Amino acid sequence: MAKNNPLIVIILAFVVLSLMLSLVKAARINITTDQHALLALKDRITSDPTNLLAKNWSTGSSICTWIGVTCGVRHHRVTVLNISYFGLGGTLPPQLGNLSFLQLLDIRNNRFSGSLPDELAQLCRLKLVNFMFNSFHAEIPSWFGSLSKLQHLFLSNNNLVGTIPPSVGNTSSLRVVDLSFNQLSGTIPSSFFQISSLESLDLRYNHLSDSFPSIIFNLPSLQAIRFSSNSLFGVLPSHIFNYLPNLKILDLTSNMFDGQIPSTISKCQQLQILSLSINNFTGYIPKEIGNMTILKELYLGINELQGMIYVA
Ligand SMILES: *[C@@H]1O[C@H](CO)[C@@H](O)[C@H](O)[C@H]1NC(C)=O
Ligand SMILES: *[C@@H]1O[C@H](CO)[C@@H](O)[C@H](O)[C@H]1NC(C)=O
Ligand SMILES: *[C@@H]1O[C@H](CO)[C@@H](O)[C@H](O)[C@H]1NC(C)=O
Ligand SMILES: *[C@@H]1O[C@H](CO)[C@@H](O)[C@H](O)[C@H]1NC(C)=O
Ligand SMILES: *[C@@H]1O[C@H](CO)[C@@H](O)[C@H](O)[C@H]1NC(C)=O
Ligand SMILES: *[C@@H]1O[C@H](CO)[C@@H](O)[C@H](O)[C@H]1NC(C)=O
Ligand SMILES: *[C@@H]1O[C@H](CO)[C@@H](O)[C@H](O)[C@H]1NC(C)=O
Repeated sequence: MAKNNPLIVIILAFVVLSLMLSLVKAARINITTDQHALLALKDRITSDPTNLLAKNWSTGSSICTWIGVTCGVRHHRVTVLNISYFGLGGTLPPQLGNLSFLQLLDIRNNRFSGSLPDELAQLCRLKLVNFMFNSFHAEIPSWFGSLSKLQHLFLSNNNLVGTIPPSVGNTSSLRVVDLSFNQLSGTIPSSFFQISSLESLDLRYNHLSDSFPSIIFNLPSLQAIRFSSNSLFGVLPSHIFNYLPNLKILDLTSNMFDGQIPSTISKCQQLQILSLSINNFTGYIPKEIGNMTILKELYLGINELQGMIYVA
């Protein structure tokens, strides 16, 4: 009976039709789309001191031979755009969001300015974004949180303002985050500390004013926390050091932390660099610091500490 059910036939026909439609749609986005996107970028370049793109990015040659461009073998689409250190000035066009096979986007050490186009949110294959050492003046877009494959996010040394969107912490693959040397304010999203893959979080030299995150998840991957030169305040909750078994670097220099240095810090037995200088820590230096056997650098200057250092 079910064999000749007209409803099933209609549904099947519909499925086949929509599959074909999506194939046609996919075919419309091809290497030509990528070429349009890159030419749109070239159009937005206002300064190219060595005429690198002007000479090399010529429509007479395949974009896969263009300097800074790498294409995938299988789909023949752009997978890497690396124009770092080219000394380029300009802005990013929305068409970059059409580079739908892009995995690595590295434009560090140029003079790109303006904002980050929302269309980049479509680049769902991105694993690495490196915009370090440019002049972007914008807020960090919340769509970074939708790039589920993103592992490396480098936005340091720009003029980024506003707060860090909590959604960035929704990027569950994140390993290295560097937002240092910007003008970010507000709080440190606790969502960062729910990312079990997180290895390094660098928020130095911003205007963040918050207390230290009350980490409640075990973060065995986390090796470096760098929060120096912000306006962070309050006591360091003693329980947080239970969740950071492989932390190697803790840099909280030049903030407004106060209270005692928790003795639980010695639970971070992998700690190699500990800097708590230029804060308002009070009381005694915990003697447990003496048995942190692989500690190489310890900075406690310019606080209100007293007592002595015990050497195990
Ligand atoms: C890409 O698709 C367009 C149609 O949308 C077509 O005109 C063009 O020839 C295709 N380019 C390649 C390289 O397949
Ligand atoms: C562009 O640069 C690449 C890499 O340096 C080179 O292989 C290619 O021949 C250049 N193309 C043109 C048109 O100059
Ligand atoms: C981009 O190129 C620079 C300079 O050639 C290189 O150091 C860097 O590792 C490249 N970036 C990526 C993501 O491969
Ligand atoms: C690429 O992106 C731009 C702007 O986001 C859009 O107008 C254009 O239609 C897109 N598609 C193609 C195939 O270039
Ligand atoms: C982050 O993800 C959670 C669930 O995974 C969701 O409830 C929340 O709205 C997301 N936050 C943002 C800011 O996107
Ligand atoms: C340090 O603490 C003292 C006493 O609570 C307070 O008066 C002072 O303003 C604090 N200094 C900083 C830099 O936070
Ligand atoms: C660290 O030092 C404290 C006090 O000096 C001592 O009680 C504790 O057992 C030591 N812990 C380890 C793991 O060696």
